[in-house]
Amino acid sequence: MQDILKQYETVSETNVKTWFRVGEVNDFPQNSGACIKYKTKQIAVYNFTRTDKWYACQNLCPHKMEMVLSLGMIGDKEGIPKVACPMHKKNFSLEDGSNLGGDDLKIATYPVKIENGNVYIGFSD
Ligand code: FES
Repeated sequence: MQDILKQYETVSETNVKTWFRVGEVNDFPQNSGACIKYKTKQIAVYNFTRTDKWYACQNLCPHKMEMVLSLGMIGDKEGIPKVACPMHKKNFSLEDGSNLGGDDLKIATYPVKIENGNVYIGFSD
């Protein structure tokens, strides 16, 4: 099980090697999540229309290793954009992947950019 988790590592804009096009802006729902695949990874993508920001993170919830985060409710906690896992409602920051509930479970996050109506996610491989 831990092997599945190992492939997810946070990528910052400075260590992007590949900007992978995942579709057009209109392919994604507003204010909720969708799931895309990159190599063996499942990645959740969220479009926050109120702030005009996009976020991406691993789809795998590290609590019970369920591929569910793209189905989670999104929102913010004191200004930090977050997703709540649909299973047991753990809240993860979409900025740094930390668990806003305080325990040490963490998720990997990925940069997203929009160019000419296309959505790209940054990967380090
Ligand atoms: S599986 Fe996500 S909070 Fe339990």
